[in-house]
Formats: sequence, structure tokens, C-alpha cells
Amino acid sequence: MKPLFVTATDTDIGKTFVCAGLAYALKKSGIDVGIMKPFACGVKQKIGFSSNDLTILTNAAMVDDAEDIINPFFFPIPASPYTAAKNLGVKIDVEHVMECFRKLDQIHDIVLVEGIGGIMTPILKEYAIIDLIKDLMANTIIVTSSKIGTVNHTVLTCNMCKNMNIPIKGLIINNFDSTGYPIPELERDLSALTDLPVLCSLPHMEKFNLSNYSALIQEKMDILALVS
Ligand SMILES: Nc1ncnc2c1ncn2[C@@H]1O[C@H](COP(=O)(O)OP(=O)(O)OP(=O)(O)O)[C@@H](O)[C@H]1O
Ligand SMILES: [Mg+2]
Repeated sequence: MKPLFVTATDTDIGKTFVCAGLAYALKKSGIDVGIMKPFACGVKQKIGFSSNDLTILTNAAMVDDAEDIINPFFFPIPASPYTAAKNLGVKIDVEHVMECFRKLDQIHDIVLVEGIGGIMTPILKEYAIIDLIKDLMANTIIVTSSKIGTVNHTVLTCNMCKNMNIPIKGLIINNFDSTGYPIPELERDLSALTDLPVLCSLPHMEKFNLSNYSALIQEKMDILALVS
């Protein structure tokens, strides 16, 4: 099955939560889901995986693949992989990321890949997340927010993906609350402006619970349509 790449309009929008919710729902539907976070940057956790995203994703997908395969590059600096690698004097080898992906792809039905930042987050000078999506030949989901400003970020992201012929399954509006756009209005306008479906909109959950969040995803959209 084609991998599913979860990207977003920015950092901190909900890639990890959406990816975890999808992984949990697909797993419950009998699909063996692998997960990958090729690049992670930020504060290193004291116990377990270096990146907290990996803890959330592996728990959701119920996998025990080795950390160096699911996250070949971790940088303990809150920056893009390009900047972090420059600052730390590390050379990023994209072919190594592809090898890790192929290993996961062989042992799972589908691999869900969480990006980092947005689609133009740089990995190398001439290589950004969007190039990785292309190399992985992945279907893509774009996670966006309901904050004022999201329309600009979403249209920019979708247009860039279209220019690069990236197949996009649709948009997910995540973490909405009463301070942003009204959701029916935002769903209407984002789908009209991008010509893409809004697959579902997920509320801010005061007390986050993966099982409830994932059940909402399953209720609101056809998750099996993501698997092709
Ligand atoms: N639906 C939601 N309800 C409540 N909190 C949420 C929801 N979605 C995301 N969050 C919170 O928002 C923050 C960002 O979410 P998440 O870590 O999934 O974003 P991200 O896009 O993966 O960020 P990064 O770029 O750091 O990987 C997290 O602290 C999470 O707790
Ligand atoms: Mg994340």
C-alpha cells in the first residue's frame, strides 16, 4: 500500500495527534500500521524515545520497531533539520531515510509518516519535506487549524503540493475551538479555495484521550479510503 504522509501548515498544528488517531483507527480496522518520523528536532526526552512524538505514535500503532529505523535523524535542537544539522555538524543522508522506510514498508501493510514542520521545512539546501513526500511516492494529508490566518497557510501548502504533483487525500482541520473560524464556514471555504475535500474537523479536547479522538475520526471520515 502507498504510504500516507501526514504534513501540516506549520509546526504544532496536530500532525502527531492526527497521525496517532489515524494509526489507532486503522489498526482497529485490522490493518497492520507502521509509523515513521524520519526527522525529529527538539528537547530530548530523558526516558524512552528521544522524541515524544515517537512515544505517542508507537503507542497508537502498537509497534515495537527499532528507534533508529522509525526515527533515523533526531536533533536535540528546536530548529529545522537543515539548521539543526548545520549547527551540530551532522550530515543528513536522505538515502538512509529511504532505506529505513523500505524496511518498515516490508513488514507492515501501510506506513504512516509524520513530517516535521510544514512542506517547505528544509532538510538539505535543495531538499525539503515536499521532496521527501515525492521520493516516498506517498499520499498526503494536510493538517490545518481554525486560527485566523489558516486560510493563507492552507492555500499556500495546497498550491505547492499541486505544483509538485503530490497526491493529496484531503485536509483535516484540527484542534478547533471557539476563538477561530466557525467550522462550517471554514470547511466550505477551504474546500472551495483548494478544490480538496475537508476529510474531517476535530475539536480541541480539554482532556485528550486517544481512543475518543480516534473514534471521532472514524465516525467522521472513511479511513479505509486513505488506504490504497
Ligand atoms: N484536538 C486536540 N485537542 C487538544 N489538544 C490538541 C489537539 N491537537 C493537538 N493538540 C495539542 O497541540 C499540540 C500540538 O500538537 P501535535 O504535537 O500533534 O502537533 P505537531 O504538528 O505534531 O507538532 P510538531 O511540529 O512539534 O511535530 C500538542 O501539545 C497537543 O497536545
Ligand atoms: Mg509532531
